[in-house]
Formats: sequence, structure tokens, C-alpha cells
Amino acid sequence: MFDIVFKDAVIKDGISTFEGDLAVKGEHIAAIGRGLSGKQEIGLKGKWLLPGAIDVHTHMSLPFAGAVSADDFLTGTRAAAFGGVTTIIDFLSQRPGEGIRESFSRRLSEAEGRAVIDFSFHACIGDWNDRVKEDLPWAFDQGLTSLKVFTAYKKAGLMLDDGEFFEMLEATREVGILPTVHAESGAVIDRMIDRLGAIGQTSMSAHIDSHPVFTETEAVQRICHLAKAANSPVYIVHLSCGDSVPILRREQRHGTRVLAETCPQYLLLTDELLKSVQGHLFSCTPPLRPYEQPVQLWEGLADGTIQVLATDHCPFNRADKDSWNGDFRRLPMGLPGVETLLPLTLGKCLEFNVSPDTIIRSLTSIPARIFGLYPRKGSLLPGADADVIVFNPKSSQRITAETLHGANDYSVFEGWPIQGKPEQTYSHGRLMTDQGKFLGQAGTGRFLPRLRSQTIF
Ligand code: URP
Ligand code: ZN
Ligand code: ZN
Repeated sequence: MFDIVFKDAVIKDGISTFEGDLAVKGEHIAAIGRGLSGKQEIGLKGKWLLPGAIDVHTHMSLPFAGAVSADDFLTGTRAAAFGGVTTIIDFLSQRPGEGIRESFSRRLSEAEGRAVIDFSFHACIGDWNDRVKEDLPWAFDQGLTSLKVFTAYKKAGLMLDDGEFFEMLEATREVGILPTVHAESGAVIDRMIDRLGAIGQTSMSAHIDSHPVFTETEAVQRICHLAKAANSPVYIVHLSCGDSVPILRREQRHGTRVLAETCPQYLLLTDELLKSVQGHLFSCTPPLRPYEQPVQLWEGLADGTIQVLATDHCPFNRADKDSWNGDFRRLPMGLPGVETLLPLTLGKCLEFNVSPDTIIRSLTSIPARIFGLYPRKGSLLPGADADVIVFNPKSSQRITAETLHGANDYSVFEGWPIQGKPEQTYSHGRLMTDQGKFLGQAGTGRFLPRLRSQTIF
């Protein structure tokens, strides 16, 4: 006898759609079929049953420019669960001189006992030193099978120069760790920021002007060249420019093993918002882009040039953003998004000629494969964790910070009407959220050691 049977659901995993029943036994998916029976039977006629989404890019409790991102592992993962996200991958935070071990134990103690859904980490390396190199095999054994580096943020001590970057690609390739990259031309951007600052230009327009589109496309092209030369796979995070898409498409066709993620803010918002009175509330890096850029991001998502949707969830409260005093260099950069990821992308995709199945894959099985979690996560196969969501495509909602569940006090999508709503979220077969009510408990989320990337090595 099964424990739970979801009856008469539209079961979708982004590849196929099956109208029938899905059974859960204990913490796992046990069967898909018709006429299944269980101790608890839940009728889902007309509703979609999906694998829980995986947000592979969040920053809970991230210190930035004197502030700390508003969501910690409890509030952020609770908000995630309301939005149909059942797994997050956040980041370790290396201090200068450290290897990977220290930041792992620090971050684990922040998440354990608080996270309500499962979580993992990318190592994050600003200081490419000998201890990091020594720790790479150890990190792999712990299941930290990806790391993030930056080609920008030199003043914050995060940027790797091209030599370090190339060496990092060779070293991670040897160990089987997937390198992920924040792709911006840091040196050019810093020069432009200084130049504009010297003539008193520090407004949000200066943020836009110091981060022109070519500072992403140049970095994307350079990263592809270096990855190909190092015979290494590489994954580009938060791709923001449509103009980067043809570069990636060409590189992929010529054998460069490059993957990319984009985020709802780059698909749906533009830099006009940065010029508005409250423009500083929309500050992130890379910045929101000119109106012509999102089109090719949607096209890249549709044709598979971009594989993953994630959020870069890094929310700061108004008070933290408001203390910028007209100088964008003082802003903690980042936007909220973990709770709106799935409803926004599923709700908006048809307007941009992208199918719901593509969105579902980009939120579930593809990130699971890229980051070594498949089929335990991102799938509805028997044996997978029973992380499932009930999505009602007929229900509509209006996004507003008042009804979102994170600790952040505003949303960049305030007032947006959205078709479709995640109504219930299950993690390991336990009902976590039900029509706006939280039924979970702090600390039920577990650290996920991950396998080697299953797509690109
Ligand atoms: O503005 C952003 N993206 N903040 C988070 C840090 C990062 O670079 O991902
Ligand atoms: Zn970044
Ligand atoms: Zn980020």
C-alpha cells in the first residue's frame, strides 16, 4: 500500500505528460500509473504535478557592502518552498588565504537546523591559492562538485586574472569539479566606474554606463576561448545579455563545452527601471539590460543554448538599498526572486514562444543533471525523492511583497499578474506548504552531496 497517491493529475516532467496517478511511499516516489491506491488519496483533476524546482543560484545571508542579504536559510528556503522550489544550491564564502574546508564548515552550520528544503553549495573562490588547489579533491569527495569564480569584482578581492582562471580550469577538470563563472570584464568596468566617479557621476545611470553590454559579451567570449584551450567544461551564471547568446551558440556548435543559466530579472525586466526614482532597488550585477536584450535570451532558452533558469536570489531590504546616498558604488547588489522563479517563468513563457515543458526542464531535470543531482532530484522516476509540487494552471495571482514569504520588504515584480500558481509543495513526501500555509519545520532540509556533473564531463 502506498502512503500518498496523487490521483488523476497532469503529470509533467518537462519531457512527457501523463494523465494519471503518482504514488509516494515514505520519502520516495514509488510508482506512476492508473488506478493506484494509497492510505491518503489526493484528487488533482486539471492540476499539474511537477518535480520540485531546483534553484542552483541563491545567496542566503550574504554579506555585501556593509549589509547582509535579508533571507537566511530558514526564511529563504521557506519562501522557496512556497514558490515550488524544493532544492537550492547556495555558495560557500571563502576568506582570503583560506582553502575550501573552512568555508564549508561555516556555511554548513548556517544552513543545518534552519533550511526547510534540501540544499547544497558551490565552492566560491576569490583567492586562487595553494590551499584551494590542495582542497579540490577533498571538495569533490564531500560532494561539492562545482565552484564559482569571478572575472570581475577585483576591488572586493573576488576576481581571478586570466592566468589564474586558466589554471583553475585545468585543475578543476582534473578533479571533475564543474567551474561556474560570473562573466564580466572586471578591469574595463572598474576603469569606467573610476572615470565616471572622477566627474561626479555615481547615479544609477552611471551603473548602467559602466557596465555596457560588451563587458559581458567580451567576458563570455574569453571564457569560451580559455575553456576550449584548457579542454574544460564551463558554466556561465546569470547570463544577462541577449547578445551573449549567438556567441554561446557558435561556441557550442564548435565543440566548446559551455553551458549557461539566465534569470527572470534578465528575461523580464530592463534597465529603464534603473533610471526611475526607486531605480536603486533594482540594482544587481550584471545590471538589468537595454530593452532589446531579453529577446535573444528567450530564444536561447527555447533552442537550448541556455539550459538553466535560476534566480541569483540575493535580496536586500529597502533600508540597506536606501543608504546608497546617490552613489551606486555603495549599493549592496542583488535582487530577491526565489519564490517567484517558477510562477513567473511558467506564467510568462508562452508570451515569448517558449513552451512550459522547456521551462519545467530548465528548472528541474537539466539543473539536476548539470549539478550531479539526477535522478534523485529533478525527476519523477520511482526511487527519486518525493519532492513534488501541485501547480494549478487555472489559478491566477498578483505578485506583491505583502503576500510573498521571504524576509525581503519589496519585490521587483510588484503588481505583476501571473497565470498559474504552485498550490502545494512536498519535500521528501512531507507537505511543506498548502495554499499559502506553511506546514514544514526549520531544519528538515538536508545537505546534498552531489555527484560529478552528469552532462558535460
Ligand atoms: O548582484 C548580484 N548578482 N549579487 C550577488 C552576487 C553575484 O555576483 O552573484
Ligand atoms: Zn555573480
Ligand atoms: Zn549570485
